[in-house]
Amino acid sequence: MSESAEIILDGKSYQMPIVEGTENEKAIDISSLRGKTGYITLDSGYKNTGATKSAITFLDGELGILRYRGYPIEQLAERSNFVEVAYLLIYGTLPTTEELADFSDKIRRHTLVNEDMRKILDGFPSTSHPMGILSALVSSLTAFYPESLNPNQTTEEMDLSIIRLMAKISTIAAWSYKNSIGHPVNYPKNQLDYCSNFLHMMFAYPTEDYEVNPVVVDALNKLLILHADHEQNCSTSTVRLVGSANASLYSSVSAGISALWGPLHGGANQAVIEMLEQIKADGGDSKKFINKAKDKDDPFRLMGFGHRVYKNFDPRAKIIKKTADDVLNAMGVKDPILNIAKELEEAALNDPYFVERKLYPNVDFYSGIIYRALGIPTDMFTVMFALGRLPGWIAQWKEMRENKEPIGRPRQVYTGETERDYVSIDKR
Ligand code: CMC
Repeated sequence: MSESAEIILDGKSYQMPIVEGTENEKAIDISSLRGKTGYITLDSGYKNTGATKSAITFLDGELGILRYRGYPIEQLAERSNFVEVAYLLIYGTLPTTEELADFSDKIRRHTLVNEDMRKILDGFPSTSHPMGILSALVSSLTAFYPESLNPNQTTEEMDLSIIRLMAKISTIAAWSYKNSIGHPVNYPKNQLDYCSNFLHMMFAYPTEDYEVNPVVVDALNKLLILHADHEQNCSTSTVRLVGSANASLYSSVSAGISALWGPLHGGANQAVIEMLEQIKADGGDSKKFINKAKDKDDPFRLMGFGHRVYKNFDPRAKIIKKTADDVLNAMGVKDPILNIAKELEEAALNDPYFVERKLYPNVDFYSGIIYRALGIPTDMFTVMFALGRLPGWIAQWKEMRENKEPIGRPRQVYTGETERDYVSIDKR
């Protein structure tokens, strides 16, 4: 007999099937629970709830393992590039030379955005956070490509929507930055590769030639690969949930960008640098801030530490820490906050509070230091995360569509007033 779980309610026994993944992860399938018993399950923050079956990313938080489509993150970060990893995530296999050339060429040919996009951009006040602009402009792609709203797109039409989004997001991201500093935007140069093109749009001036530094391109490829997917995190679950209502790829990803913006999620990379700056301005006493983080009466948390699923070293943090050292050395940058970060990490890793709670540095702890060295301003850090996460969001949205998943609609346990009669205003 296949394995099942027994649930006993009001003296009656119910068998719930066990589902097993390819990495032997086990789940109790409770999809028939309410129908059979009238009960639902309650799991605030979804700490124990699998929302879907997915074949894209595997992670083991206890062992610190992360694989995209079976390939270890360490190998991809070392040997692949961002566009190849995007193809892998979205289409499930490593591309052949021809497939990769075709995918890259298509992305290059779609980098230009409609000139009306600039008018929308001009309407944002200079105080706008680039994440808000990014989310709004990605959503506005539905206006330029209304056919993307069709929930019954053919595979070719869906592929075109995917290519457009992959291509245009870097133009939109770089333009939101240029707009925020009052500089003219740069048009994409399609002879450049994905990362070089983005750097050119970010940093070139109409008045000067811009040489793309290969050290920077390499580091950017690595960072984007490390952020490219992370299974059912907050923003990805948002993308799948919004998409499950048959919303378009662009509106679903726009919602994911808003979720990513939160400081407990992608916004943490900006918060880490702000925290390190604060420690530096305060005299550099990392112990003091460790104590603040441990104090339950103090809302301060050590940003870039802890993770919902990693109860071991985040494998991405290990790679990023080394990359931070390499990039700063190669570029001759001496950033005092790198030393503060290392001191803080060492102090936390030896402190019983962090050890007992299994709080380790996460992907965001060192990424901001690299972005800073690359000349990327602090409020663009989370935009960089979004650029990296895009192929993951796309792959997850596509998988959800192809698997014809039903609309996502959690239930609740109601804790409000029971029925009562309306009271007219003069009697309240
Ligand atoms: N500093 C101090 N204490 C912490 C921290 C931290 N960064 N993170 C967790 N704790 C404590 C928390 O107070 C709790 O203690 P206690 O058991 O005594 O009440 C315990 O550790 C468990 O924390 P939790 O909040 O229940 O854990 P969670 O899984 O709900 O939260 C988290 C995970 C990432 C939101 C949290 O660790 C955090 O707020 N970290 C700082 C923000 C951050 O770096 N976020 C980026 C996450 S990685 C990139 C991404 O996914 O976007």
